Amino acid sequence: MHILVLNGSPRVNGNTSAMVDAFVEGAQEKGHSVKVIAVCRKEIAGCVGCEYCHTRGGGRCVQQDDMEKIYEALEQADMLALASPVYYFGFTGQLQCAVSRFYALEKLGRVKQTALILSSGSDDVYEGCIYEYKESFTEYMGLEDKGIFTAFGDQNKSEEKLAELREFGRSL
Ligand SMILES: Cc1cc2nc3c(=O)[nH]c(=O)nc-3n(C[C@H](O)[C@H](O)[C@H](O)COP(=O)(O)O)c2cc1C
Repeated sequence: MHILVLNGSPRVNGNTSAMVDAFVEGAQEKGHSVKVIAVCRKEIAGCVGCEYCHTRGGGRCVQQDDMEKIYEALEQADMLALASPVYYFGFTGQLQCAVSRFYALEKLGRVKQTALILSSGSDDVYEGCIYEYKESFTEYMGLEDKGIFTAFGDQNKSEEKLAELREFGRSL
């Protein structure tokens, strides 16, 4: 299947990216094709709430920026994985901007499955992200949750954690 990963970390070689890389490795071993979009390297503005997409736009956002690339990638994807460091108990602003822009779409292309990858400094800081993920992606959009993976403190970049992510990729 085609997997799209939206990596919300601004740090190219950071902790979130290490988890994403391990997941991609495992998924590719199983023959899946994976596209990773580093949203912080893109120009993606937040939703302006103008409702153009739900009126004259007919599902197209009035803002023309790199979100177009994500809309296109969603058309090809069977699974969407969100990855982010925890910033003040939530996703990074850059990832949140992309997620808000899903508002233009009636459904997320052909995406049926989803997963969540989070990195943080401390333990027990995931509730905000998990709440948004579950409410928006599994409940509201009706996607099947394939797993939630977290790493805090010394778990970040640990062989054990990366093996868990690799195994998750292989399990799909
Ligand atoms: C702006 C900012 C806010 C953060 N907020 C939290 C937080 O609320 N809870 C936490 O445990 N760690 C927090 N952290 C730490 C990061 O989540 C942690 O270092 C993470 O591993 C970074 O991932 P990265 O290497 O992919 O950037 C914050 C870091 C930054 C820069």
